[in-house]
Amino acid sequence: MEQKEDKLKEVISHAKEYGFVFPSSEIYDGLAATYDYGQLGSELKNNIKSYWWKSMVQMHENIVGIDSAIFMHPTTWKASGHVDAFNDPLIDNKDSKKRYRADVLLEEHMEKIRLKIEKEVEKGVKRFGDDFDEHQFRATNPNVLRNAEKIKEIEDRMRTALETNDLEGVYQLIMDCEIVCPISGSRNWTEVRQFNLMFSTELGSVAGDAATIYLRPETAQGIFVNFLNVQKSGRMKIPFGIAQIGKAFRNEIVARQFIFRMREFEQMEMQFFCRPGEEMKWYEYWKDTRSKWHKALGLGDNQYRFHDHIKLAHYANAACDIEFNFPMGFKELEGIHSRTDFDLKQHEQFSGKKLQYFDPELNQNYVPFVVETSVGLDRMFLAVLSASHKNEVLEDGSERTVLSIPPALAPYKVAVMPLTKKDGLPEKAREIIDGLKFDFLCQYDEKDSIGKRYRRQDAIGTPFSVTVDHETLENNTVTIRDRDTMDQVRVSIADLHRMIDEKVSMRTLLV
Ligand code: GAP
Repeated sequence: MEQKEDKLKEVISHAKEYGFVFPSSEIYDGLAATYDYGQLGSELKNNIKSYWWKSMVQMHENIVGIDSAIFMHPTTWKASGHVDAFNDPLIDNKDSKKRYRADVLLEEHMEKIRLKIEKEVEKGVKRFGDDFDEHQFRATNPNVLRNAEKIKEIEDRMRTALETNDLEGVYQLIMDCEIVCPISGSRNWTEVRQFNLMFSTELGSVAGDAATIYLRPETAQGIFVNFLNVQKSGRMKIPFGIAQIGKAFRNEIVARQFIFRMREFEQMEMQFFCRPGEEMKWYEYWKDTRSKWHKALGLGDNQYRFHDHIKLAHYANAACDIEFNFPMGFKELEGIHSRTDFDLKQHEQFSGKKLQYFDPELNQNYVPFVVETSVGLDRMFLAVLSASHKNEVLEDGSERTVLSIPPALAPYKVAVMPLTKKDGLPEKAREIIDGLKFDFLCQYDEKDSIGKRYRRQDAIGTPFSVTVDHETLENNTVTIRDRDTMDQVRVSIADLHRMIDEKVSMRTLLV
């Protein structure tokens, strides 16, 4: 656990040192759970957005993208259910004065029991070697069965209590599981209370005229209210999708773990409108498609897992998370939800406007069903940054810190370095940049030894470093160094563009 915390601390400090992420308004000691993206962070973030947008909009004929306003008519949030039901069940520990999400305490408790099961299985592997039958072991070992039964019982009680808003039941479950506060170690808990997560503000400057409006807690509603606008103006035929990237705001009580849980964050969401009855087919399709999108980054297939929701949101008939192995362990990265026709029907009811589609093949009007994919941009950022951050010991015993960011997402694609600051080498280096800069973000670097410059580029994840030396002036060749293998080869300047493009193009991820 301590090792994991150390890893997160290392990533946070690296992110600050190299201009990826800064605490917001730091000169005033920062603002809790709010962060600013620096010069390299905004490049990485833009590249992640571009990867998502291209894969969703550019690679799908039937998906289009929009950019709706953050402020929406307040009735939107009545209709969507957020005013009444967008709550977290919270509980305080009276000794440490720390506040927790009650469901998260229970999830973490179940995770601990799951780990016990895995340890038991590991013991079995060690004991029986090649003869080990894992399936049989899980089905018969008394310790495994007892712990699996415990998890099931907690899950069932938690689901029932949350679904029926039985807060006393949630409290009792926490007591029965003997869950202690991680800080004080005590079981001195308050009752469980519901807390609405939406930020509100007032519209209009004249007193009395003001109306309460909300900062959107999800971008999805901007898509729902524009469903007919897009369908009609874009002549879209079902099934089709509407995608959007934008800010969302939640008054998270337990906001911690760096950019994992923030009060202001960005979502990349897509609502896929389909025929009623076909939603489960599309739910499976999007689970698979989104899983492939993540895995194409090469951060390691075993770093992802699906987690089915126990407590379904008020709008869903099926939902799961794609979890990523963050430095803090497996946590939600993306949600995939079958939202039924809940949102469109609610907006029909509250606006009095029909939000229906005429299906020419069925010769029928209906309210479409919706499958949603929703991934947090900041969580993607943390996933990429933490999985890419490596401390390596090299063959000669020296050390380097490298960010092996997938090249298509790397902030700078190439650094061009004159070996010395004289003899026309800087001018030649700038000439090379002039030939590359229309397609790739390049960095010019002439300070310090070449070795130090390589280390600097490794630390910010630049896939290629090009060195210009005296031979360059004679025959127009340079050395190009690969960030990951550290191999250097001499190539013609004329070949640079192709070589870089082959490795850093988004095509490498999208095919
Ligand atoms: N429209 C559905 C929706 O908003 P969600 O599971 O509440 O569903 C979707 O959020 C994604 O948004 C999450 O998987 C996560 O990546 C991201 N997200 C949610 N709350 C966040 C927060 N406080 N900070 C950063 N990212 C967050």
